[in-house]
Amino acid sequence: TAIEDKPPLTIRLCEPRGFCAGVDRAIQIVVLALKRYGAPVYVRHEIVHNKFVVDGLRDMGAVFVKELDAIPDDGQPVVFSAHGVPKTVPAEAERRELLYLDATCPLVSKVHKQALRHMRLGRQVLLIGHRGHPEVVGTMGQLPEGAVTLIETEEDVAAFDPPDPAALGFVTQTTLSVEDTAGIIEALQLKFPAMQAPSSESICYATTNRQDAVKASASGADLFLIVGAPNSSNSRRLVEVAERAGARRALLVQGRQDVPIDTIAPGSVIGMSAGASAPEVLTDEIIAALRERFAVRIELVQTAIENENFPVMRALRDVPLTSA
Ligand code: F3S
Repeated sequence: TAIEDKPPLTIRLCEPRGFCAGVDRAIQIVVLALKRYGAPVYVRHEIVHNKFVVDGLRDMGAVFVKELDAIPDDGQPVVFSAHGVPKTVPAEAERRELLYLDATCPLVSKVHKQALRHMRLGRQVLLIGHRGHPEVVGTMGQLPEGAVTLIETEEDVAAFDPPDPAALGFVTQTTLSVEDTAGIIEALQLKFPAMQAPSSESICYATTNRQDAVKASASGADLFLIVGAPNSSNSRRLVEVAERAGARRALLVQGRQDVPIDTIAPGSVIGMSAGASAPEVLTDEIIAALRERFAVRIELVQTAIENENFPVMRALRDVPLTSA
């Protein structure tokens, strides 16, 4: 079909979207470790929550494991994922004399430090987050067992009855909904006016920026597509933000196969963004799929400019990223 025969479609493309500096660094660490040490490079858990990324690294020689006990003593390195790990994990790696590379995002490490700081100052530590998410497991595991209380909802705030309400400090997961978290913090502050905040925001710049751009583009959109994986916390929050900000329908899609192209009416307005662990090629292939059917006009909705870059550890810095 000639382009003029195709029905029109508008895509509001969010900027910033996709990879954040922490995800980019974590992937680079695995790639550089493969170059420096050769295969296999073991990776504890999905390095970032994206199947496309994980499959790509597996093809290059990465071996994904759940726990360190699945790793043989073959002298090859193990990488810890961007979400962070409980303290028991590096301790175990040291005991076994494994060579390990910690790809924990520096912004997650910052939250770990703030949780420790609360504890050192004699405060009971509250973590606002989602039970079972690897970042939550990692942050809780920075402190002794039982020292961190997880708060998931405002109902948890109502039910929470601390021994010393005057000595509380909170931190949050980095990838939460800015709005929901504000509601929970408000409820906590109302009930425990002496509660101490972390010295800086726990929700990271990438989460905040991606939510802002979705919020700015959702109103009146017939459909909002968020590229991301079902286990990606920040991607799922983007779907909620789109719905709340006025998109008629919002969907989490892993690739072009998940886009309900047949249900899209001519002349529709579609919002699009991608979670912090979703590679740009997936967004590109979805736009290409829409172009096969529609005369697509792209409107860029840019709400921030990101310059963050987190360098990899020194041990990998001299390894060239592209082979000669
Ligand atoms: Fe780090 Fe935020 Fe990305 S915590 S891994 S920069 S989503």
